[in-house]
Amino acid sequence: LEQGCLSIIVLGASGDLAKKKTFPALYHLFEQGFIQAGEVHIFGYARSNLSDEGLRERIRGYLKGASEEHLTEFLQLIKYVSGSYDSGEGFDKLNKEISAVEMSNKSGSSRRLFYLALPPSVYPSVCKMIRTYCMNPTSRAGWTRVIVEKPFGKDLDSAEELSSQLGELFEEDQLYRIDHYLGKELVQNLLVLRFANRLFLPLWNRDNVDNIQIVFREDFGTDGRGGYFDQYGIIRDIIQNHLLQVFCLVAMEKPVSLKPEHIRDEKVKVLQSVNPIKDEEVVLGQYQGYKDDPTVPDDSNTPTFASIVLRVHNERWEGVPFILKAGKALNSRKAEIRVQFKDVPGDIFRCKKQGRNEFVIRLQPSEAMYMKLTVKKPGLEMATEQSELDLSYGMRYQNVTIPEAYERLILDTIRGDQQHFVRRDELKAAWQIFTPLLHDIDAGKLKSVSYQPGSRGPKEADELSEKVGYMQTHGYIWIPPTLA
Ligand code: BG6
Repeated sequence: LEQGCLSIIVLGASGDLAKKKTFPALYHLFEQGFIQAGEVHIFGYARSNLSDEGLRERIRGYLKGASEEHLTEFLQLIKYVSGSYDSGEGFDKLNKEISAVEMSNKSGSSRRLFYLALPPSVYPSVCKMIRTYCMNPTSRAGWTRVIVEKPFGKDLDSAEELSSQLGELFEEDQLYRIDHYLGKELVQNLLVLRFANRLFLPLWNRDNVDNIQIVFREDFGTDGRGGYFDQYGIIRDIIQNHLLQVFCLVAMEKPVSLKPEHIRDEKVKVLQSVNPIKDEEVVLGQYQGYKDDPTVPDDSNTPTFASIVLRVHNERWEGVPFILKAGKALNSRKAEIRVQFKDVPGDIFRCKKQGRNEFVIRLQPSEAMYMKLTVKKPGLEMATEQSELDLSYGMRYQNVTIPEAYERLILDTIRGDQQHFVRRDELKAAWQIFTPLLHDIDAGKLKSVSYQPGSRGPKEADELSEKVGYMQTHGYIWIPPTLA
């Protein structure tokens, strides 16, 4: 890790994301010694009139359970600067504050990390201000890097426009487009799993795999964010970014090496191999009660649930449906990948109805991987049943704390590693896949069916999965093992 003065500037410091994710992640990095007093200075920037203490108190509220000693020390590193997002005055003031701490630091270096916890509508103006007023001085060793949050645009054209606006101000290696799913432990494990295990290499293709599901479920609605959500919908909120990133890692070819550019090259390739989405392979849903939110228009057609089949036109995956499914206000909260294998040819046990082999990667909660297998039912009878090989992280890694996604990604940015960030061409390819569908939904050509909150979502989605080949195992439930 490089040493020397590091300034982390959180823009939108009084907003939700900053309080819930950014500052807590910084605290955890501090607690573990990845960022240290004397070297790091944190600045919160926002429009509200707030004192340093005022901001620190707000942050404290989100760090329940932290050690008092560490917390007090951490909070002392934070300063607040108020200003608007489009005036030189505020950013000039911010720059002076940053320069002052750099001057007093003996290392003579200047590393500046800007975290935009802001709505994308202000990205262009904020980036322009940073470029004009706040870049690291060239007389000092260091860098300026900018982390931006989704949504990066609303469709292909708006995303490209945003990309070129930012591209005029910063080089690609200064821009870190964050997708926090890429910071999750089991998402980061995908490359290892696929390419470091002989077991999977020959199986991971159309000859053996029948279908793949990538599923996100939440057991709460759009509570309090209806206004934002209605502009975007579940496809832009979850599928086009989080699930598609997971899809890339599941479906892509083996990269030449682990270099970030090599990995991202493969992601772009697989995205470019996705066929246009067919209307009959899409189910949209909206939960009953969504429109009760006063910030949501009464005639909203915005989906809060979607199930979309992606088809990859290449040698490995021709004919294998990838079902990407996401929904709010469902009966459970979880995210998982399900790789379902084909039936055993010439099966002498005739146990087809019991279910197929399925490899499940549970991203959250309770990280786990398990492989559903058919085994002999223990006992005197010669009967078969479904069981599993189970790697549950809570059991296997008992004294290991799994880091938060944001923690990891901020550390990557400090280290200058862009592997787990979205490259510009990758973003473009992602929007190319979904834009025609999104335009049809926005134009009302495709309608959301209504579903009961707290349910599995529209029954049409289950029917679609079945139609494209997914076979549900009846009578089998995986029970995550718990410590005695
Ligand atoms: C965010 C979405 O990107 O991800 C939210 O905007 C969603 O709608 C959240 O709730 C889910 O993240 P996680 O890490 O809780 O699965």
